[in-house]
Amino acid sequence: MLEKLDQIQDEALHALQTISDEETLQSWRVTHTGRSSALMQVFSGLGKLSKEERPKVGQKANLVKIALETAFDERSKIVKQEALERSLEREHLDVTLPGRPVSKGRLHPATQTLRRILNILAEMGFQVFTSNELETDEYNFQFLNFPPDHPAREMQDSFYVEGNDRGDNPLLMRTHTSPGQIRAMRAAVATDPNNPPPIRIALPGMCFRYEQITARSEVQFNQVEGLAVGEKITFSDLKGTLSDFGRRMFGQDVRTRFRAQHFPFTEPSAEMDVECFVCGGKGCKVCKQAGWLEILGCGMVHPVVLQNGGYDPNLYTGFAFGMGIERQAMLRYKIEDIRYFWGNDIRFLEQF
Ligand code: PHE
Repeated sequence: MLEKLDQIQDEALHALQTISDEETLQSWRVTHTGRSSALMQVFSGLGKLSKEERPKVGQKANLVKIALETAFDERSKIVKQEALERSLEREHLDVTLPGRPVSKGRLHPATQTLRRILNILAEMGFQVFTSNELETDEYNFQFLNFPPDHPAREMQDSFYVEGNDRGDNPLLMRTHTSPGQIRAMRAAVATDPNNPPPIRIALPGMCFRYEQITARSEVQFNQVEGLAVGEKITFSDLKGTLSDFGRRMFGQDVRTRFRAQHFPFTEPSAEMDVECFVCGGKGCKVCKQAGWLEILGCGMVHPVVLQNGGYDPNLYTGFAFGMGIERQAMLRYKIEDIRYFWGNDIRFLEQF
């Protein structure tokens, strides 16, 4: 009986050695270790053996069983490894390699800054109003109290768009977001012509100027316009609102100042500076030793502009302001050249 067990083991191991695929391997398992295998029959025949023989044969049969199982596991590993190698050779695709990380991307620094500003203005009650990038001369200039040939137009060299002859109302890419003031007022008046509602909007978007591209000026840039129209709005509302904006944008301790300026569509007009948050007002490279940084243009909406928007200037007043987004981002992140924004250099964009 012991010899028979040796024989069972030899035969089984011998058969196992040449197996090279999973299917044959499984049928080997059934044949040599399964219920009706020769080995299992030895186990079930143990009861018929004599007392002396039984433990020896039992022990031996157990050893054979363990030997076969161990050999099966080893062979199984080899078969799997060989199958993998074959498939690698055939397909040259190693599915076990870790994948390449996907680059997630992020918002452009100008968009990030724009959203930050809109969030602050939203907290202060200004709703987003979007308006056209392609404008007529009327909306971009005339309704805003720039008469034809007015020298203030020179500050905003324009991209005119070819089209049918439109006389003195040609199409152009908007040079600022201010034409949206007229569109917002007219839209509000349309909702209730006899009793137009008060307005408090933030007007974001791309603007275009036909300028020489330098470190400080680009042919396209984003602005955010603010407009508040209602009864009894005063210059102190403008100052309070914009000083508060400055603190929310640049920090609670930041100081602001207003300087007189001229815009055709506001009267009086001003520019707001914030104390240089890099040097704290002492003077440095960023503020060009001035201690102050110019942030935005603003003023009380000109009566002619209110009139053009459909609001009676005898009953309503308002204030407006406009700021360049890339400029805010440049100050905040100390970016020295505006051309980086649309240069699409990933080394720049990745830093935000
Ligand atoms: N539109 C002006 C500019 O682009 C900024 C401005 C907006 C000034 C609103 C006053 C009021 O320079």
